[in-house]
Amino acid sequence: MKQTVSTIQKMKEEGKKIAMLTCYDYSTAKLMDEAGVDMILVGDSLGNTILGYEDTISVTMEDMIHHCAAVARGAKNPLLVCDMPFMSYQTSVYDAVVNAGRLMKEGRAQMVKLEGGKEVCPQIEAIVKASIPVCAHIGLTPQSINAFGGFKVQGRTEAAAQKLLDDARAVEAAGASVLVMECVPAKLAEKVSQMLTIPTIGIGAGAGCDGQVLVYQDMLGMFTDYVPKFVKQFANVGEVMRNAFADYLKEVKDGSFPDESKTYKIDDEIIDKLY
Ligand code: KIV
Repeated sequence: MKQTVSTIQKMKEEGKKIAMLTCYDYSTAKLMDEAGVDMILVGDSLGNTILGYEDTISVTMEDMIHHCAAVARGAKNPLLVCDMPFMSYQTSVYDAVVNAGRLMKEGRAQMVKLEGGKEVCPQIEAIVKASIPVCAHIGLTPQSINAFGGFKVQGRTEAAAQKLLDDARAVEAAGASVLVMECVPAKLAEKVSQMLTIPTIGIGAGAGCDGQVLVYQDMLGMFTDYVPKFVKQFANVGEVMRNAFADYLKEVKDGSFPDESKTYKIDDEIIDKLY
């Protein structure tokens, strides 16, 4: 079934949990679609998982469009959300609308995600006015890593928790259709989820959210540079891949790959006529 902003909203109303995963390429998108994933996020985490950067700061609009378009070709049913990269919306409301439009037109995204609370509400309002659905992202917002001074749980003090609650209300009022909360204490995320009418998606924010998102290489055990506490590894695909690469290497080196069954035939007569 094709997921849309309304079907995702209905899931919250009916108390059905929403399953979202990050994705960055066509073949993985097809697998996620076949598995029935509700929402796919082409996250700027591709800076870490695909491009090998230390953070998401260097990710460009071109990177996002390139990967989002590939995912869009593979995933037909999940609602496709694409991250707005660092400095594609912070600079001005105008830039935000133009760049959100590019992610829709060139990347074929169905919703854009941007990080921040009250401070990005003018951008959210303008993007929504341009008929582009918005997913807000509060709590730990990796594009602000240099301002935060590291990857830390957010909203732990009374003032920080109140700010998070106020930001959640503000982005909903500005027109966001979905809210991602990252690295937020579970009880606080639960309170926000009960308070808002739009669905909340948690990552390191406990089971009280309306849905969950994980970076797919994290949940498959493929990316082990840094494994946050909230990650559950549902499979060790990293080990399966490493073993397969090693087996391939061995068979190429000892000549057992390719055997006859993997080769194309030609008449000996033709070969014999060649000079
Ligand atoms: O870029 C990303 O993968 C994200 C998730 C962590 C929510 O924003």
